Amino acid sequence: MVSHACSGDELLAWRRGQLALGGRAVDLDWLLDLRGELSWAELQKLRLRPELTVSLACSMEALEHLWRQHLDDHVPLQHLVGRCPWRDLDLVISSAALIPRQETELLIDLALERLQDPAFAPHRRDARWADLGTGSGAMAIALARALTGWHGHAVDLSPAALELAQINLRRLAPEGGCQLHLGHWWTPLRPWWGHFDLVVSNPPYIPTSVVDALEPVVRDHEPQLALCGGADGLDACREIVELAPQVLAPGGWLLLEHHHDQSEQVLQLMECSGLVAAEARCDLGGVKRFAMACRAPGSSSSLPPLHDH
Ligand SMILES: C[S@@+](CC[C@H](N)C(=O)[O-])C[C@H]1O[C@@H](n2cnc3c(N)ncnc32)[C@H](O)[C@@H]1O
Repeated sequence: MVSHACSGDELLAWRRGQLALGGRAVDLDWLLDLRGELSWAELQKLRLRPELTVSLACSMEALEHLWRQHLDDHVPLQHLVGRCPWRDLDLVISSAALIPRQETELLIDLALERLQDPAFAPHRRDARWADLGTGSGAMAIALARALTGWHGHAVDLSPAALELAQINLRRLAPEGGCQLHLGHWWTPLRPWWGHFDLVVSNPPYIPTSVVDALEPVVRDHEPQLALCGGADGLDACREIVELAPQVLAPGGWLLLEHHHDQSEQVLQLMECSGLVAAEARCDLGGVKRFAMACRAPGSSSSLPPLHDH
């Protein structure tokens, strides 16, 4: 790869010039890191020692071109660089799917925490998880890597999102363990209904009126299918929760991400559907953004045992 050398003084002056055009320093530094391959720590070092020479992975002109596209056309930086770090993963990203958000990283921690609970018993040898509305495949990959030996299923209604998930799964979870399914929430998983020990979903949950008022960088560049949850934002949650008691294995858990003001409603939906032990969990800002509940451990399953793998 060709590297582009410049002095710290030059780079810092360039950076000030770009920020004078607009935008946030945190975003410009993210671009410098992901595209220019100049880490935040290296940037801090240059502030202390501007006489040092630095090597960028691309020219300052190329970086400026991307920065201007971001400022003028509100193109998300993740689309411009085609990548997004998420947990320990470096995901390929495009406009085909939602850019995975930082708060969703917590949903994986919460899901894996459930497995530590002694009351949770993925009793059978064919333990099974699903990710509903997988998008870029971020959560599916995290689960496939953490739960080796489990059977994984990732579902999406968008063929373009599934293609992206497949690219990411092949790169980041090459040992397999996750099947992709095109279709509507639980529908393509029908052969395994009654056998899911763990299901995660970050469904579209933004009320239609709120979607229209989102920042252009989200509203105009991320798929509507990934954002819009209907009039009250809960269309997808309702559908997912309603069937969960049939689809989960006895003792199996459903974990959902939701909008900042939907906690009570989602917990109520879970309780009304017949799920038990419904609980809210907060994001790092202390806002209730996750809901989890399980199918009663002792409930009987009238479904036949599975023979597939
Ligand atoms: C908020 S995005 C979440 C994407 C990814 N799981 C993440 O957290 O970054 C919601 C996803 O649900 C998918 N989706 C929307 N409606 C769906 C449906 N009826 N059935 C399956 N997936 C659907 C969208 O295509 C989108 O990929």
